[in-house]
Amino acid sequence: MIFTVAIDGPAAAGKGTISRAVAQQFGLRHLDTGLLYRAVGARVANGDDPVAAAEGLTPEDLARGDLRSLAAGEAASRVAVMPDVRAALVDFQRRFARAEGGAVLDGRDIGTVICPEAEVKLFVTASPEVRAQRRWLEVGGDKDEVLAQVIERDRRDAERATAPMVAAPDALLLDPTEMGISTAVEPAARAIREAFGQGRA
Ligand code: CDP
Repeated sequence: MIFTVAIDGPAAAGKGTISRAVAQQFGLRHLDTGLLYRAVGARVANGDDPVAAAEGLTPEDLARGDLRSLAAGEAASRVAVMPDVRAALVDFQRRFARAEGGAVLDGRDIGTVICPEAEVKLFVTASPEVRAQRRWLEVGGDKDEVLAQVIERDRRDAERATAPMVAAPDALLLDPTEMGISTAVEPAARAIREAFGQGRA
C-alpha cells in the first residue's frame, strides 16, 4: 500500500501532535520534516556549509537534544529559504512519502511540493497568539519574544520564493483552537478513513 498523509501549517500549530496520533491510529510511519531543517540549521550554526550539511545529514544530527529550541527553529527557517538546501532534502522526503506501507509527513510544503499526489492533505493553523502560547509552554522563556519569533518565522516561511508555506488548494483546513488538539485529530482521522474507503490506498 502506498498512501501519503501530508500535514502542513505554520509554527506550533499542532501538526506534530495530529501527525503522531493519526500515524499511530492507522499504522503509518511518520516523518517530522521540520527536524531535517532544524538539524541543517544546527550544523550551520557550528560552521558547516548549508548545502554540504543538508547533503550529509546523519541519524546523529537528527537525534541532537537541542533541536526543539527557539534558536534551532530560527536557524531552521534561515536555511529553509535556500533553494539548494531544499533540493538536497527532497529525495529523502519523497522516498519516505511513497515507500510501501504508507506515511504521514508534516512540514510546510508536503502537499504542494514534496508530495502533491498525497491521498490526504491537511493544513493546520491557529492564531499566532494561540500558537505562541503552545510553544511557550514547551520552551519557556519570555512570552512576548516567543510570539515575535512565531510571527517572524511564519512571515519568512510564507514569503520565501522556493516552496513557500501555503495550503494546497485541495487541503482540508483544520483550526484546533476551538476544539483542542486531541479533538482536532478526529476530522483528520475521518479524512484518512474516507480516502481509504475510496480505495485511494
Ligand atoms: O515545530 P514548528 O512548527 O515550529 O517548526 P518545524 O516544523 O520544526 O520547522 C522549522 C522550520 O523549518 C520552519 O519554520 C521552516 O522554515 C522549515 N521547514 C520548511 O521549510 N519546510 C518543511 N517541510 C518543514 C520545515
